[in-house]
Amino acid sequence: MRACEQGEAGELRLDELVLDRGGKRVLHGVSLSVRCGEITALVGPNGAGKSSTVMALAGLLPRVSGRVMLDGAVLMARRAEQVRAAGIAVVPEGHRVLGDLSVRDNLLAAATALPGPQLKGALEDVLAIFPELEPKLALAGRSLSGGQKQMVCVAQALLARPRFLVVDELSLGLAPMVVKRLVGVLQQVVAQGVGVLLIEQFTTVALAVSQQAFVLERGRVAYAGTAAELRQRPDILHGSYLAAG
Ligand SMILES: Nc1ncnc2c1ncn2[C@@H]1O[C@H](COP(=O)(O)OP(=O)(O)OP(=O)(O)O)[C@@H](O)[C@H]1O
Ligand SMILES: [Mg+2]
Repeated sequence: MRACEQGEAGELRLDELVLDRGGKRVLHGVSLSVRCGEITALVGPNGAGKSSTVMALAGLLPRVSGRVMLDGAVLMARRAEQVRAAGIAVVPEGHRVLGDLSVRDNLLAAATALPGPQLKGALEDVLAIFPELEPKLALAGRSLSGGQKQMVCVAQALLARPRFLVVDELSLGLAPMVVKRLVGVLQQVVAQGVGVLLIEQFTTVALAVSQQAFVLERGRVAYAGTAAELRQRPDILHGSYLAAG
């Protein structure tokens, strides 16, 4: 999978996504877009529907209606592995790795779809991005710190060489130094043309590094615009976060 070429107008778009969970409507027509070579923030309070949006996008939850558009065409893929093969890689919430497996096997388990000859190169590429994982490769997943587990999760997503990388709660529970390191990696892949959707409950980091931003409130988009404008308009954020309480 290739990243967008310089100047290419690649876009991942959700169109009027409607989703039910446990018999309850949790997304009421969510539309948002992510451009290649940019970080787009999706923020909102606890329970707003951020992870549900990610799971519907990733093919992990069936949607009631709505479309996913990739570069202007409807993405027909519905199953998780098809979505991934189409170039959309997701880092789920919770930075979980398989504790009994080695770090190497955790990485390889995420790359089963890659043809053998490509696997070595892809592994080398992610270890160049995360050199701190190299000395950990033989260790069991459970021995890693939270930050190292998140690095493995991001590395797993990058192994697919995605055009779009969706990260659900990059920073939750991690030390500021680790967050800084992970944000640096996002900026690095964005510079290579990947489009990143960064989902965060806490807005400071996400809005500081994003170009575009969406605020989700009770399953609806309450703001769509630039991250810069949202940084200047704390009233919008306060409104959405209070509404959830
Ligand atoms: N497994 C589930 N079964 C049924 N409903 C669920 C399930 N998980 C979440 N929900 C509901 O879906 C809605 C959206 O939750 P979601 O987890 O998508 O929000 P979120 O914005 O990711 O929140 P958080 O900031 O806590 O991660 C909430 O009303 C929640 O109660
Ligand atoms: Mg969530």
